[in-house]
This record gives sequence, C-alpha cells and structure tokens, in this order.
Amino acid sequence: DITAQHIEQTEREQESALLADILSHIPHSVFWKDKNSVYRGCNERFLRDANLKSRSQVIGKNDFEMPWGKTDAENYRLYDAKLIASGKSELNIEETQSRADGSVAHVITSKVPLRNRKGEITGILGIYMDISELREAQMQLEDQQRRMGAASKMAALGVLAAGIAHEINNPLAIISATCSYLEEASAQGTLGRPELENGLAVVDKTVNRIAKIVRGLKAFTRNQSKEQMRETPLAKILDESFELCAERMRACDIQFIRPELPEAEMLFCRESEISQVLINLLNNSVDAIASLDEKWIKVGLAVEEGFSVLTITDSGPGIPEAVRAKIFEPFFTTKDVGKGTGLGLSISLGLIASHGGTFSYNSASPHTEFVLALPRAKKEPQKERAA
Ligand SMILES: Nc1ncnc2c1ncn2[C@@H]1O[C@H](COP(=O)(O)OP(=O)(O)OP(=O)(O)O)[C@@H](O)[C@H]1O
Ligand SMILES: [Mg+2]
Repeated sequence: DITAQHIEQTEREQESALLADILSHIPHSVFWKDKNSVYRGCNERFLRDANLKSRSQVIGKNDFEMPWGKTDAENYRLYDAKLIASGKSELNIEETQSRADGSVAHVITSKVPLRNRKGEITGILGIYMDISELREAQMQLEDQQRRMGAASKMAALGVLAAGIAHEINNPLAIISATCSYLEEASAQGTLGRPELENGLAVVDKTVNRIAKIVRGLKAFTRNQSKEQMRETPLAKILDESFELCAERMRACDIQFIRPELPEAEMLFCRESEISQVLINLLNNSVDAIASLDEKWIKVGLAVEEGFSVLTITDSGPGIPEAVRAKIFEPFFTTKDVGKGTGLGLSISLGLIASHGGTFSYNSASPHTEFVLALPRAKKEPQKERAA
C-alpha cells in the first residue's frame, strides 16, 4: 500500500513539474485570477511583461495595482466580469497592454473559466500572445501598398500627361480664336447679335470640354486615403476615365467602343480608385495594340445580382499563357525599363478586392479581355427586381 501511495505521489510530482515546465516555456503569457479578478498566479513571461521579479508581486493584486494603465485595467476587468457572468470563454480579444517602459503592446487574449469539482466557477485562466511586431509589420505593409498605389497612379498619369495637355490646348486655341474674331468684328462694327450668340455658344461648349477633363483629373488624383465609399454613377466614372485617355487613344488611332450606360447604374465605391483601375486597363490596352492593324478597345456592361460586371476587351489576340500566369504579380512587366513598372494590374487587383469586387483575366475570349465585377449601390437591384 505504501509503495502504491509512493508511486502515486511521485507521478503527481512529475506531472506538476511537467506542467510548470510547460508554463514557463510556452511562448505565451499565462495568468490566472480568482472570481474577483485578483491575480492568483502567472508564468515567467507574464512577469516579464509586468516588469516584476517574482510571483509574490503579482499574487493578491488586481489589475489597477499592476503596471498597466487604468484604461487597460478597466478593459481587462470588463471581460473578466462578462466571463464570470456568462460562464463562457472569451476568445481572441484584441487589446492593448501598456508596459512599465512606456511602450504599448498589442496582444490577443483568450480567457476561460476555471471551475471546481462541482462545476462552479472559481476563477479565470488567461493566455495572451504579443502581436505588436505582427501589427507593426502589417501596418508597414499597408503603408507601402498605399505608397505603391499612389506612385503607380502618378506613373499612369505621366503616360497620359502629354495627351491631356493637348486635350486642353485644343479647346483653348478655339476659345482664343473665337474671342479674336468677336473682338475684330466688334471693332469693325460688324458684330451682330447672331454672331455674338454663336461665338458665346462656342466658348461655352469649349469651356465645358476643358472643365470635363479637369473634373476627371480631380477625381483621379483625389487623395484616396481620405476618400469615402459613396454611390457614384458608373457612367460618370467611365466618362471621366476615358476623357483622360482619349487623346492617347486618338493619337494611336484607336477606336473606343462603349455601351450606352443607364444613368441609374450606380456603384458603391471610391471613385478615384475605380478610375485608377480603368485607366490602368486602358493604358495597358493602348500599349498592347498601338502597333496592330486592327485597333479597338471595347467596354461592355452586364448587370448581375449586386454587381456591375464590366468587360474591357481590346483587339489584341489575348495574352500568351506563360505571361498570363504572372500578370497580376507586382513588378511583373514585359515592357521596357522606364516604360512599365509592372504594378498596374497588381494594384488594380488590390483596389477591386478592397471594394469587395473581383477582377480577372478572361482566357476564354478570343481577344484580350479583363472582367471587373464591382459592387452596385444597394437600393438599385431591388428597384429593378420590382420593375
Ligand atoms: N491588354 C493587354 N494586352 C496584352 N498584355 C497585357 C495587357 N494588359 C497587361 N498585359 C501584360 O501584363 C503585364 C503587366 O501589366 P501591368 O499593368 O501590371 O504592368 P505594366 O503595364 O507592365 O506596367 P505599369 O502598369 O506599372 O506601368 C504587362 O507588362 C503586359 O505584358
Ligand atoms: Mg499597366
């Protein structure tokens, strides 16, 4: 009997030594509290986070007596209370932990109830993981992506700049000539009311033309980090994007075919981003077909449940399979150094994904074709279904 007792005790000792070993070696911080959120124990890592030397400095304390700030402490106790009241675990809570050295760590915490043999809750077991570095890396990545997006947008605009200058210069020349004519006619006393009205109508129409281009430029260059998602007519986005590329297409003698867009077709989007995607696609198509015999770019629209599906097709024969596999990768380009950065499609993919849409290459088409599914503004599909 004594031997049996002895064996049992040794086993128990081994087991608790193993547990202690696990607690001190797992790469997580572990603590436990009683029902009143008073600390009853912790592992070494937790001590380190609290900048304390021994467990005796933790045991018996509540969160307000620990080195973290009042807000953190209140937050921790809120989850403790919730868990004690419901008896349910609180998993993957994202919270902060202000440390003694002034730094603020981001942690993911899970708390489970501790129970006695009768099943009554006696306390809380908590375990958390420090995700500060991960978060920092994530933020840096997002920041870099934003910068890349902005750089690529400016590069796309650079390609179009000469065309846009031309687009503005032409109407300016028309306005200037009309004014000269009116001035001369007036000086010679031959300016009748019909001539004046005609002249003014020409100026008005031409000014509108410039205004349209400037509007497109403004929509395109809007600071997208501040731009909110809002209902925007698809026709407006397509018009303004096309306006910016129009002269480049004309210079290459490319025919642009677009559908009559229903005015009510509304997207829920950040306009400058959708415009950036369309301009990337149009620029790519111009690059691809400029030297072909048959030169056209066609936009098509299909309306599906919740989505406006745009197809952008050019007269090119499609992208060879080996190239196709890589076109959405950042920095993949088949263009000369200084001509393409290889960012257009990868950034476009990110922008469309952030809208909850999809963006893909259609390899079933005999011509080069990209398909964009963009979320429609909510109320429209219902209206149509009722009609
Ligand atoms: N319409 C198209 N026809 C043929 N090839 C295309 C077409 N669109 C894209 N590609 C191919 O995909 C590659 C990647 O396109 P992407 O827009 O990402 O970069 P890029 O146009 O080379 O450079 P950037 O857009 O950064 O100036 C292109 O280099 C080209 O090989
Ligand atoms: Mg491109």
